[in-house]
Amino acid sequence: MKISIFRILTVLLVWIPEDGGVAAAGKLKQMQQRRRGWRRLADETFYPSYRDSMPSSLQYRKTSAIFNVLKFGAKGDGRTDDTKAFEAAWLAACKLEASTMVVPKGSVFLVKPVSFSGPDCGWNIVFQLDGKIIAPTDSKSWGSGLLQWLEFTKLNGITIRGNGVIDGQGSVWWTDSPTSTKPTAVRFYGSSDVTVTGITIQNSQQTHLKFDNCQSVQVFDITVSSPGDSPNTDGIHLQNSQDVTIHSSKLACGDDCVSIQTGCSGVNIQNVDCGPGHGISIGSLGKDNTKACVSNITVSDTKIHDSLNGVRIKTWQGGSGSVQRVTFANIQVSNVKTAIMIDQYYCDGSKCRNMTSAVAVSGISYRNIRGTYTVNPIHFACSDTSPCTDVTLDTIQLQPVQENHEPFCWNTYGELKTSTNPPIDCLMVAKPSKKQAQSNYDSCEV
Ligand SMILES: *[C@@H]1O[C@H](CO)[C@@H](O)[C@H](O)[C@H]1NC(C)=O
Ligand SMILES: *[C@@H]1O[C@H](CO)[C@@H](O)[C@H](O)[C@H]1NC(C)=O
Repeated sequence: MKISIFRILTVLLVWIPEDGGVAAAGKLKQMQQRRRGWRRLADETFYPSYRDSMPSSLQYRKTSAIFNVLKFGAKGDGRTDDTKAFEAAWLAACKLEASTMVVPKGSVFLVKPVSFSGPDCGWNIVFQLDGKIIAPTDSKSWGSGLLQWLEFTKLNGITIRGNGVIDGQGSVWWTDSPTSTKPTAVRFYGSSDVTVTGITIQNSQQTHLKFDNCQSVQVFDITVSSPGDSPNTDGIHLQNSQDVTIHSSKLACGDDCVSIQTGCSGVNIQNVDCGPGHGISIGSLGKDNTKACVSNITVSDTKIHDSLNGVRIKTWQGGSGSVQRVTFANIQVSNVKTAIMIDQYYCDGSKCRNMTSAVAVSGISYRNIRGTYTVNPIHFACSDTSPCTDVTLDTIQLQPVQENHEPFCWNTYGELKTSTNPPIDCLMVAKPSKKQAQSNYDSCEV
């Protein structure tokens, strides 16, 4: 098959100059013009690898076009509202599979809340961010109750890449919020095959980067940067998302570096530098008597420093569902208030009533957790009615730098695989009666 195509091409190449060279060239030009007409605003770049390996009928769809926001009227002066230009560039890029929308370097684009959306968009669109995008800070630019600034929804194959910066200019939200709802800077919703790489997201109004209802997410080589005292500025927030990898990234913010919420499974976090911030958290889960299901989470080879917590699982009283199969391995903590924490009595400041039900927690493994803490090395506060089970600790080396509290466990069943420093003698070894917990686990299996 390959040989025969090669032969035909060879024959054509030999044949064209002899006989129909001019006609063939004319035809080619005609074709090119037609393509241009079709995609007037696109800078055409054809990937030779596609052209060579694809049947000609598919070549057309597989060619990739570039849509630069400057060509759609963006000023990039940091003052002019460039939202319309971004929308237009997206609209054009969206129509073609594997096209690229470019936000070029050397310019600053002021962009109001915008949705890059499309169940009807082509697959595998690239958002090439080399310049800087900034958010408006006046309340007029924001609709009421807007949950996000830059939204990517219902896409199949979407990549944000480049060395550019997304700056939420969030300091006004941290002090005196111009909107009633603080927006997330970048939010992906209902998308699959999502990649975010290279970029910096900084000074978010609230959460920097959020994935909700997404499958197959890759985040790597990104930077999140906000001051440690900026309120609610989570780094990466995951919800109802599966098959997520976050690695080789530096996350500094004022809340959880990574927060894993209900509906997440198959999350792998590796080689992350977290701090300042509140550490890496599963939860909070089960607020307002809701059901939460989280499973198969691994956090490994990660540094957590200058933060409220190291690794934490937090659930509200009154919830249901479960957290299962979680591994924290090779974690270096330094200057964290509490290094290892499970809190099934999580309460966000206000008064919380005591309730009997809880999100069940089981199969939590801590392996090779080392470093320093300022208050608590280990704090396990598990529910009276639904104790934590199958909690294992292996190679724990934690040193105090200020206060030195003993490891604390309440209703925590599990096992020490090695001796630990400090010694932990508060784990319970017997199995608890499983009735309530079991129904919680069952309710999460689908
Ligand atoms: C979690 O992992 C277990 C064991 O590897 C697997 O059987 C199960 O299907 C996974 N669950 C989810 C929801 O990914
Ligand atoms: C909840 O229970 C704890 C522990 O039994 C107790 O110390 C606390 O006072 C209770 N809180 C309320 C609001 O009843």
